Order: sequence, then C-alpha cells, then structure tokens
Amino acid sequence: PKITFIEDDGTEHAVEAGADESVMQAAMDNLVPGIVAECGGYANCATCHVYVDPEWADKLPAPEEAEEVMIEAAFDVRPTSRLSCQVQVTEDTDGLIVQLPASQT
Ligand code: FES
Repeated sequence: PKITFIEDDGTEHAVEAGADESVMQAAMDNLVPGIVAECGGYANCATCHVYVDPEWADKLPAPEEAEEVMIEAAFDVRPTSRLSCQVQVTEDTDGLIVQLPASQT
C-alpha cells in the first residue's frame, strides 16, 4: 500500500509500505525524516506523531487508550493527530496521506 508523508515544508515522500507494518515502520524503512520513534513503536514516546489527512482521519480505526493518553504529551496536537506506530498499514490504507509536525524534524 502506498503512503505519502508530507514534511512541514511541503516536501513529499511517497513510499510503498508493507501490509503488516505500522505507518511509523514504513517511514523508518524508507528514511523519511521527521519521525523519531524513540520508544520503538510502543505508544510510549509520542515522537512518531503525525497528522492524518482530514480525508483519512475517519477511515482509520480509532486510537486505543494508550495512544490517546500519549498523544496528549505530543507538541502541537490537532484533532487529526495520531501516533504513527499505532496506525497499521493495510490494503484499506492504500493512498494514505500523513503530515509531519515541524517540531519533530
Ligand atoms: Fe514511540 Fe510511536 S514510536 S509512540
């Protein structure tokens, strides 16, 4: 499935993700800047914070409680904020677009 990451300055990174990985892993595998993922994907650091494109926000499964709690610790939180390690890539997410926060680069 294709995912497009958009940096704060508008630079786009379109990557081909594996259907079993998280959006965070897809960014790491493809050296997309702006996702730090200090905790390695355990909803424990908030440095994999992204903004899901509004068109996609309602199409993704809702965040679990651990993600919601940790998002509150992120910078510049918006209604479309997600932790990318908790968003699973599936065939249904083909074409997903996420924006990267300025503070994480
Ligand atoms: Fe740490 Fe996602 S990688 S919360």
